[in-house]
Amino acid sequence: MTDFRISPITHPLRGAISVPADKSISHRAAILSALADGDTRVENFLPSQTTHATVNCLRALGTDIEQPDAITLIVHGSGLRSLREPSDILFCAGSGTTMRLLAGVCAGQDFLSILDGTPALKRRPMARVAEPLRAMGAAILARDDNRLPPLAIRGGALHGIDYTLPVASAQVKSAILLAGLFADSPTTVREPSLSRDHTERMLSAYGVEIRNSKFEIRLDPISKFRMPNLEIKIPADFSSAAFFIVAALLAPDSEICLEHVGVNPTRTGLLDALARMGAPVQTENPREESGEPVADLTVRTAELRATQVPGAEVPRMIDEFPIFAVAATQAQGETLVRDAQELRVKESDRIATLAQELRKMGAQIEERADGFVIAGPTPLHAARVAAHNDHRLAMSLAIAGLLARGETVVEGWECVADSFPDFELVIRALAR
Ligand code: S3P
Repeated sequence: MTDFRISPITHPLRGAISVPADKSISHRAAILSALADGDTRVENFLPSQTTHATVNCLRALGTDIEQPDAITLIVHGSGLRSLREPSDILFCAGSGTTMRLLAGVCAGQDFLSILDGTPALKRRPMARVAEPLRAMGAAILARDDNRLPPLAIRGGALHGIDYTLPVASAQVKSAILLAGLFADSPTTVREPSLSRDHTERMLSAYGVEIRNSKFEIRLDPISKFRMPNLEIKIPADFSSAAFFIVAALLAPDSEICLEHVGVNPTRTGLLDALARMGAPVQTENPREESGEPVADLTVRTAELRATQVPGAEVPRMIDEFPIFAVAATQAQGETLVRDAQELRVKESDRIATLAQELRKMGAQIEERADGFVIAGPTPLHAARVAAHNDHRLAMSLAIAGLLARGETVVEGWECVADSFPDFELVIRALAR
């Protein structure tokens, strides 16, 4: 296990910061371009452990993917019916997105696929994806009463379904839509509240007809699709930008600009929560790239007041709660997060690990079954804290360390490679 040591910042944060490409969009770009007819050039692909797992699995399924440099893919898609039975297991590393989205693809294939991953991934719930895919006609077996990885899938001959998601999960929604591409009748997915819609947007960019009304997505079966301009450009990841948004809000006298960030409204719930807390983030130069809204974000130091996060906002900021909690420790009053029990089945049980680790730094945080309550503001002090194999927790604790008194040590830092391998370089440049 690697330790990461971080000392408090002694000067304002200033200037432009670049963060890496969007993880969710990178997975989808690799998968959809593999199923398309013809070549797609994917620019600004995220080089990370999780996205490499997706690329390796697609190669094992027979797709020819070139990677001329770390952030470019040239995917030679051979069409919806081009995948072949892999000769070995499909190793999804620690990536829930890889396993769940590829489960949807494999459900459409008339051959055996076995999806497995690291011990951490083997603890993530898979019945949520196996059940609807079985209802579409795939045979799927899983460990521990069909709940946990590995997944053994023999697909083929799928029928469309009309399915209401029990929880708003973009991974499950995407798995069903990907399987729906191979079905013989239309597929409809309904969600209880809006989750990220990158799959729907990218399918549209590929020319697939997809009808999307607020909480309902409908897809008709198709035989082929192709990217009209043969190129996908991936924006910077809002979830990675979030660490620096909060750092700049909390570090005295700061002003930073984050460039070319994905601001898809299904991802930016954190901005709404921060605006209620008295910290509006300025969105400049809005534009659209490969079907995704992109902008530059300017953030200035602000005094924060506590807020309540309503249930409907939770899926729109699901990956930002660790860094949001750091912001809440510095807000005046009691911040309350409810209806967020999904946080318990992320890379770690984020309600428990957040409470446990932030308390070591002096935060007043109370764990609830479906969320947490934070009383602020409390000055943070350095501590030895643990990442629990959770990249977003690790980076949130590093930002807390940047603002705390003394030298903080984050144990288990290596998991940061799941989404932001260069985080250390960016934060060291800021701390100098
Ligand atoms: C993701 C969806 C979310 C998110 C995860 C990435 C995706 O998970 O937490 O980091 O790319 O679709 P759920 O679908 O489980 O909510």
